[in-house]
Amino acid sequence: MTTKVNGNQFSYELKNTRKTSNSIHGNLVLSQHHKDTLPDYGPDLENLSFTVEYQTPHRLHVCISDTEGIRWRVPESVVAVDKSLTEIEKCDYSFNYKDSPFGFSVSRKNESGPIFDTIGKHLIFKDQYLELSTSLPLDSNIYGLGEVAASFRRETGRFTLFSRDAPCPENENLYGTHPFYVELRDGKAHGVLLLNSNGMDVIYENGKITYKVIGGILDFYVFLGPTPQNVVEQYAGLIGRPCFIPYWSLGFHQCRWGYNTIEKFEEMVSQYEKAKIPMDAAWIDLDYMDAFKIFTFHPHHFPPEKFVSYVEKLHKNHRKLVVIVDPGIKVKDGYDVYDEGLKKDVFMKRADGENFVGRVWPGETVFPDWFHPDTQQFWTDMMTRWLKQVPIDGIWIDMNEPANFVNGDITHESNHFPFKKGIDSKNVNLVQRVKQTGELEYDVHNLFGHMEGIATHNALRAIRPDKRPFVLSRSTFSGSGKFVAHWLGDNESSWRSLELSIPGMLSFQLFAIPLVGADICGFNGVCTEELAIRWAQLGSFYPFCRNHNAINLPGQEFYQFEKAKQIAKVALEIRYRLLPYWYTGFYRAYTNGSPVINPLWFLEPEGKDTWAIDQQFLVGKGLLITPVTQEGALKVTGYFPPGIWYDFFTGLKQLDIVQGIWKELEAPLEVIPVHVHGGSIIPMHVRAELTTFVSRTTGIQLLIALDRLGLASGELYLDDGETPPENLAKNHSLLTLTVRDSILMVEGIFQYDGPGSFLDEILVYGVTHEIDEIVFTNTSTKVIERNKIEWNRENGRLFVRELGIPLLNG
Ligand code: GLC
Repeated sequence: MTTKVNGNQFSYELKNTRKTSNSIHGNLVLSQHHKDTLPDYGPDLENLSFTVEYQTPHRLHVCISDTEGIRWRVPESVVAVDKSLTEIEKCDYSFNYKDSPFGFSVSRKNESGPIFDTIGKHLIFKDQYLELSTSLPLDSNIYGLGEVAASFRRETGRFTLFSRDAPCPENENLYGTHPFYVELRDGKAHGVLLLNSNGMDVIYENGKITYKVIGGILDFYVFLGPTPQNVVEQYAGLIGRPCFIPYWSLGFHQCRWGYNTIEKFEEMVSQYEKAKIPMDAAWIDLDYMDAFKIFTFHPHHFPPEKFVSYVEKLHKNHRKLVVIVDPGIKVKDGYDVYDEGLKKDVFMKRADGENFVGRVWPGETVFPDWFHPDTQQFWTDMMTRWLKQVPIDGIWIDMNEPANFVNGDITHESNHFPFKKGIDSKNVNLVQRVKQTGELEYDVHNLFGHMEGIATHNALRAIRPDKRPFVLSRSTFSGSGKFVAHWLGDNESSWRSLELSIPGMLSFQLFAIPLVGADICGFNGVCTEELAIRWAQLGSFYPFCRNHNAINLPGQEFYQFEKAKQIAKVALEIRYRLLPYWYTGFYRAYTNGSPVINPLWFLEPEGKDTWAIDQQFLVGKGLLITPVTQEGALKVTGYFPPGIWYDFFTGLKQLDIVQGIWKELEAPLEVIPVHVHGGSIIPMHVRAELTTFVSRTTGIQLLIALDRLGLASGELYLDDGETPPENLAKNHSLLTLTVRDSILMVEGIFQYDGPGSFLDEILVYGVTHEIDEIVFTNTSTKVIERNKIEWNRENGRLFVRELGIPLLNG
């Protein structure tokens, strides 16, 4: 019998269902062919296997694949998904299905409307075309599905997911691939991952999301939240939580393409010193290489001996060096990296078995095949040799979509790409028949950058087992945050790029790659002073804070501008003071998978006003950033969720509201509005110095912002900032900070006794009465008398300095 709904024929029927206490298995049998539609994509698969796993109380896995299990699927070695199973009764969701025509749905337990629902929709499963849809409410809120330059809450449309080197065109597929979305519905959030590395279009219409995928299997994970933060943590729990970052990586980074001699590079660093602008890491682009050959140094412009002595000086001043590495290896006999790769036979292959040769910066280029079992060793060996010459601290991996300047192999092997809907027109410039150790580039294209990230991270770990690796990658996939940080690619020195940087960063919080930022001042184009000012202010609140510029453009280092120089200094000093707060956030990203910056709907998911906001964000949950992103604007309107909001800089209570409101704020050029949420405790450094290292030695100030009931809480994590967390054993502190009834309690693990591990200042916002004394009790008691307590009646600000209390037990 043929079942017709909306004129479409359904194709599968569920048979042989078997249930266990934590799973359902069955067979899907093709009941109707789609012979007249989609003939290019091969025949429909007659039999499919269907598996449902109740994995955790908040996570369900639904997989539709070929019965033989031979189709391409993302291997465990690439994304090591968590494999838990739990009893059905423990789950906060229910799974329903219909045998014929086959469809399934997932609902929250005891709630009616399903959150994922394919019942009544097509299931198409051909060799090169898979289609499945889920229904949505008409006014849905969908976030994620990138990488893309777009609004944070997605507009309806077709989203192509296929990694691509493109200078940030809006609403098109960019560098990374993240087939994950978060939906906010009725104040609750859930997430859906389609774990599939093939190119796909996701069509988001009113009332429906349709996946159209060109290969692999339909491997879905549904995350039940119910809070937005829960969803991200549950997602990170499946694909891998972010790696723990070195402390210095939270400092300011200066980069550009065009520091083409050691002298020019040195000049940049000394200009920053002269301007007394904090800066932790100096970066070099392709300029240090000899003829764009990776793992080499230019013999005249960056001779290793001279370079080393400069890097030693940099290190002495507690600064770091990061340089770029591209995956493309120049084809040149006698170039040892090429020769070694040939010997090990670790390059990507054409269908005829010859090495695939593309064209990138060095000219003719081969690419490492990350699936080859010897490639990691090859990469580690090359990096070991190279890092022995110059002690580079961090690696920036670029062009790893992978980018190729010609269409396919330089011999122009045919580039047949069968998917006609969207992604064929988007610069698919590696051929589908290119092989990576038997895997078709067609299937694994979107994993290239992710796998290079793993190899580079692992190489650094092997070379320096006592240091946390720092790797910045342009192309990423689900799970990359465990290995790399990310920047948003080749943006413009434009106000629009400034605006788009916020939704970009917020999306990567959902993707569990929290260390992210856009090129400050913009990559392509000329940056005006006003733009540099506003970008310095906003960029100081990016998780990853790097100024970067393309070649042959006027310099945009902050010291190049008279006014921006002053304003950037102030903004970066705020960043450096806030480092303990940022670092604690990154500790929680590592342990829990939590985002480090948050959209406003994470604080107030039920408040309609927050859903579309992507020009404001929260650092943690306590600091609200309302940047100016419009040219010429000296005021900015921002939304404030319920609660008390203090001006971060003055401590003045700005709002005490039970309902969220929009408010216009003064924002003259030298001001970025920042507000503290009543109820938060923000740990800070006492002073900002020129590096994170020195700033740390100044000790801790607690900024306590009281709520209406006089309560506040927070957290502080401390360690040496560089030892891999698994080796830290007993040298970290994790302190819970609570204020109640005018008592500050600092409790937890006190182990870290390195420089700066002492509480030196307390700043309290919202103090309405004079305080007679402050008592610290630990094993000994310290009393601060009235005359040492500065209290300002007008703004309710209380300040105590020079406490010098060690953050240690006893
Ligand atoms: C790419 C990168 C950019 C880099 C340039 C030269 O365009 O995205 O950041 O500066 O290549 O290496």
